[in-house]
Amino acid sequence: MRCPRVFSIATIAIAALGIFASAADMPPLDGTPHYDGKGNLIFPSDYRQWVFLSSGLDMSYSPTAPMDGQHMFNNVFVPRVAYEAFLKTGTWPDKTVLMLENRGGAVNKSILKHGEIQTTDVMGLEVHVKDTARFKGGWAFFSYDSNLKPAAEIPETAACYSCHEAHGAVDTTFVQFYPTLMPIARHHKTLSTVYLAETAQK
Ligand code: HEC
Repeated sequence: MRCPRVFSIATIAIAALGIFASAADMPPLDGTPHYDGKGNLIFPSDYRQWVFLSSGLDMSYSPTAPMDGQHMFNNVFVPRVAYEAFLKTGTWPDKTVLMLENRGGAVNKSILKHGEIQTTDVMGLEVHVKDTARFKGGWAFFSYDSNLKPAAEIPETAACYSCHEAHGAVDTTFVQFYPTLMPIARHHKTLSTVYLAETAQK
């Protein structure tokens, strides 16, 4: 999940405005996944208008990983249509798109003496898509370069799949870190067996 690239604000702003090569290239912004002719996922440029699930701060999955003075927030967003379906069922509907935005954190800014704020530097944009007709296992991961060109599916052998499958609380997603959704999943009893087994050990 760590990634040194810094996305240019202009690139994201332009994508958000929907300025594509021609109007015909622009997919509808309807909260579902859209692919180009090669099957690459078109960047969902309106993701900042989706429902905000949570921010992880300086997350690391290794007990020894040092942060060496660098700070990062992981902001997670989901389209409203998928969010509302989750509220009703406790799980994600087909065609859910989840966005993970890695954004720089900073200390000692402006009037700040303690704590961290988010900066304008986007350092990574990663997407998790549920499209059962298209992907083996139902879900696939994508990661965008700073040019935000349509992204190819990350191969199933990547660590993304194994970690999410082994630890995700609902349907390979990290609902245990999305505080508004966790009570809904508990209510609907949709927590994964791997998650329940993991928490029972603690
Ligand atoms: C070692 C475990 C681990 C690995 C490997 C991993 N992730 Fe995640 N991922 C997480 C955690 C934990 C979260 C919750 C983030 C938060 O709370 O901010 C997450 C959240 C996400 C989300 C938000 C939606 C969701 O599924 O919960 C996306 C998108 C995502 N990761 C993409 C990726 C991609 C792409 C890769 C591979 C390049 C990857 N992840 C590899 C642990 C992992």
